[in-house]
Amino acid sequence: MKKKDYIEVGNPHRLLTPGPVLLITAGDGSEDNIFSVAWSTPLRKEPPMAAILSGKGHYTYRLIRKTGEFGINIPDLSMAEAVIYCGRNSGRDVDDKFAGAGLSRIPASRISAPLVAEAAARIECRISQVVDMGYSSLLIASLLRTEVRKDYYSEDRWDFNDGLKLIHHLGGSRFAVSGSDLEVD
Ligand SMILES: Cc1cc2nc3c(=O)[nH]c(=O)nc-3n(C[C@H](O)[C@H](O)[C@H](O)COP(=O)(O)O)c2cc1C
Repeated sequence: MKKKDYIEVGNPHRLLTPGPVLLITAGDGSEDNIFSVAWSTPLRKEPPMAAILSGKGHYTYRLIRKTGEFGINIPDLSMAEAVIYCGRNSGRDVDDKFAGAGLSRIPASRISAPLVAEAAARIECRISQVVDMGYSSLLIASLLRTEVRKDYYSEDRWDFNDGLKLIHHLGGSRFAVSGSDLEVD
C-alpha cells in the first residue's frame, strides 16, 4: 500500500464525534425547550444507559436539572435545518423554539418533557448521575422507553433500505450523512 500522508490536528473531538446529532427536549408541564447535541454516547446495554454533554448555561439545562429528565429525539436528514435552528437560538430569546424550528410536540409516556413528532426515533431518559465538566455537565441517564419509526428499523438495528438518512455533526454547520449499511463476514 502506498504510504499515506498524515497531519497532526488540534481538535480530536472532531474525529471522535460518534452517533447522529440529537435534539434534546425538556419540560416540567408548564414550560419546555429543545436544543441540539452532537456529543453523546451509549454507556450500557442492559439496563440501557447513555450520556449527553450539556452546557450549564443553556436555557434547557435549567429545566433538565429541575425535572431530572430529558428526551432524546433523533432527527433524519429532512430535519437538518431544525437542528441548526435549535443549536443557534436559545429559549432565553425565543418564545417557542419548537415552532421556530417547524417541529411539533407529542407527549412522552414516562417523562414530563415533550418529544418531537417528526423525529426518526425518540428515547425517554431519567438522569442517574451528573458529572461536572466545568462549563458543561455530562448527564448520565437511564433510557426508560425507546420508539423508532417502523420503516427505519428492522432486525434490531437502523434500516437504511427505506430512505433513512442520519446526520452526524462535523462542526459549524456541516454534517456527514449516513444512508447505507454494510455487512462484513
Ligand atoms: C449541530 C450542533 C450541535 C451542538 N452540540 C452541542 C452539544 O453536544 N452540547 C451542548 O451543550 N451544546 C451543543 N450545541 C449548542 C446548543 O445546541 C446551543 O447553545 C443552543 O442554542 C442551546 O439552547 P438553549 O439555550 O435554548 O438550551 C450544538 C449546536 C449545534 C448547532
